[in-house]
Formats: sequence, structure tokens, C-alpha cells
Amino acid sequence: MLAGKRILLIIGGGIAAYKSLDLIRRLRERGAAVTPVLTRAGAEFVTPLSVSALAGEKVHTDLFDLTDEAEMGHIQLSRVADLVVVAPATADLMAKMAHGHANDLASTLLMATDTPVLMAPAMNVRMWEHPATQRNLAQLQADGLHVVGPNAGDMACGEYGPGRMSEPLEIVAAIETALGQGPLAGKRILVTSGPTHEPIDPVRYIANRSSGAQGTAIARALAALGAEVVFVTGPADVPPPQGVQVVRVETAEQMLTAVEAALPADAAVFAAAVADWRVASSSGSKIKKDAGRLPVLDFAENPDILATVSQRKTDRPRLVVGFAAETDDVIANATAKRARKGCDWIVANDVSPATGIMGGTENAVHLITAEGREDWPRMSKQQVATQLAARIAQALG
Ligand code: CTP
Repeated sequence: MLAGKRILLIIGGGIAAYKSLDLIRRLRERGAAVTPVLTRAGAEFVTPLSVSALAGEKVHTDLFDLTDEAEMGHIQLSRVADLVVVAPATADLMAKMAHGHANDLASTLLMATDTPVLMAPAMNVRMWEHPATQRNLAQLQADGLHVVGPNAGDMACGEYGPGRMSEPLEIVAAIETALGQGPLAGKRILVTSGPTHEPIDPVRYIANRSSGAQGTAIARALAALGAEVVFVTGPADVPPPQGVQVVRVETAEQMLTAVEAALPADAAVFAAAVADWRVASSSGSKIKKDAGRLPVLDFAENPDILATVSQRKTDRPRLVVGFAAETDDVIANATAKRARKGCDWIVANDVSPATGIMGGTENAVHLITAEGREDWPRMSKQQVATQLAARIAQALG
């Protein structure tokens, strides 16, 4: 709940501004007061009238509105809030913030405020990935700004990738977290993610097709609910989320060591695609191509990290969640896997190539618990993560 909290909401100029109208409603439903500020570009996408009608307050648009200056002033306006939220945070607004510009009301407020700031970036994927934006992002994070999103997906401009503004409820969760009020505040949660690489020699390794997308999305969703997340990741394709403690590993054995070092935790989610075997006789030097002779690899079994943690006598997290990546008899195999490993929940999915799930952006999962099984509809990995994080918050209650 956000009762009694005041949010200064700066709406930048992007198509995602329409979601900020819904954000205002969600904030007010939770008891927050919203002071809206609409940039000139923002007003090209949503009208001042819609914004003020939803906020139930006057919308501030112009730095040189003398009545405002007499009554309140931009300095004071920047101080009345418990949190300043910039949504959408455009590439331009991020650049202004990172470089300390103060040439309109929004940028002046951001310079003048002594209140924490949360931004929800939204822009075209190329603009998001541009080195200038990434530089500005790094600077803003170093300056202590909170960031939520952006999410990956289809964009209004017809392209695909990271750049979509987070959904209003994700922003609400991030606001609660920034205000120290998320449902997982005070909870420590461990998440494993990505593939592992098992060396054959110093230059070659055995790996799998996991991109780390699902584990990364789960860590992000848990952090957005206020959890302190330890994110143990193998070499993944996607970058780790913001606001979590990242521990990078390569092999299954290193992952187990990192996981054990991260305990105790309230919950643990094992989304990593850990290699079941490693090369027992991995060579310290590069194996040479010996005319006529093919190398023979001996395998040894890797430790099962999920089973090891599930069966711990001390420091077992209250909730242990495993994944089951199956290509046949998904439910039967996953149900047996839950019993065999001793975890509380299994998130099962079909990773047959035809599903496009492994390495893709969507997932269709079944949640298997002691109470039975739930079939979730096919949705984005981010939505699976958001839903799973909400269930974890309920369970840890
Ligand atoms: N897992 C683990 N350590 C391993 C292997 C798997 O922690 N050495 C975890 C995964 O992170 C996942 C779950 O166990 O949460 C199931 O992984 P999966 O690959 O589906 O199962 P396996 O145990 O490898 O069983 P199988 O290969 O027989 O399907």
C-alpha cells in the first residue's frame, strides 16, 4: 500500500506515455497522491486534461509559469514528493539527467530534487542499445537512481527487443520497493540462471542452449518486489538485471560453491540449465589435432545443485523452486523430478525445438506443487517471472 505517499510523476515524450495514465490510476488506487508533470514532448502523446483528471491535481507543464513560481516554485515542487518517478524516461530525458541539464521544468525538477528518483525507460531498441544511452544509464545508476525495465518485446515502432516501458503494475512494484515497501522487502532470495560451460581444454567447452532469459527475468521480478536477490549465473546471452548481487560462474561445480556460499536464504529458484556431466579428464593445455587419432572424452557426473540444496539438513531455504526442462511426458517427468530432488515446487516446461522456448522469449509452464498442478497459458518469460515472483511473495507471506 502507498497510503499517504506522494509521487511526483514526470511524463516524458514517448508513445508509452499512455501507460502512465494507467499508472496514475494504479497509484491512486493504492492510496498515493500523484503530482503530475508533463514535458512538452509528453503533451504530444497524452493531453494535460487526461493527466490532471486522472491525478485529481493540476498538471505542471511550464518552468516559467509565474503563478506557480509565486505559489510554490519549482524547487519546492521537487521536494514535496516521497519519490520522483520518470515514466516514460526517454533517451533525451536520460541524457539530460545524466549531464545535469536544467532547461525545462522536468529537467530542472530532477536537478533540484533531494528525493529518490525512479525511472522507467522507454524507447526504440536501437536508441536503448546505443552506447550513449548505455553510458547515461551507467552514470545514472552510479548517481543512485532506481531503474525499472525496459522490457523486451514488440514495440510500437514495429521493431523487437528491449525498449518497452515496464507495465504499470511493474512500475508500482518498483515504486513500493524504492520506498522500502515491496512484499518481499527483507527477504533474501537466491536465483541460479544461464547455462554452465564445462571445459574440455582451455579453449573448448561443452554447453547448452540456455540464454539465461527466464532466470534473469525471475531475478528482476523478485528484486522489483523488494527482495534482496543473489543472482548466480553461468555465461548467459542476456545481461544480468539491475539491482541484484551478481555472482558469475562457469561450471556446475563453481555454481554449487557459489550457491552454498550465498545461503542462508528465504527462498531459492534454480532456473539454471546446469550441465549434467563434465569432462573428467579435461586437459590443462589445448588438445592438438593428432593425425588419425580422435580425442576420447570421459565424463563425470556433476553435482545436482537443486537436489543438494533441497536435501540440506541446515540452512534449507523455506521455499525451493526447481525447473524441469523436458521434451517428452512433461508432467509425469516433472512430477517425478520434484519428488526425486526434494524441492517444493517445479516449474515445468516443454523445451522441444518446435516450441521455440529454449532461447526464445516466451514460455508455457506448469507449476507443480504438493497441492497439485497448474497449467499457465503461454506468455512472455517476463510475465512468467512476474507471476512466479508474486506466488513466491504469497508463499513467503
Ligand atoms: N539442476 C541443478 N543441478 C544439476 C542439474 C540440474 O541444480 N546438476 C536443476 C536445474 O537448475 C533445474 C532442475 O535441476 O531447476 C532440473 O533440471 P533438468 O535439466 O530439467 O533436470 P535434470 O536433473 O538434468 O534431469 P534430466 O536430465 O534427467 O531431465
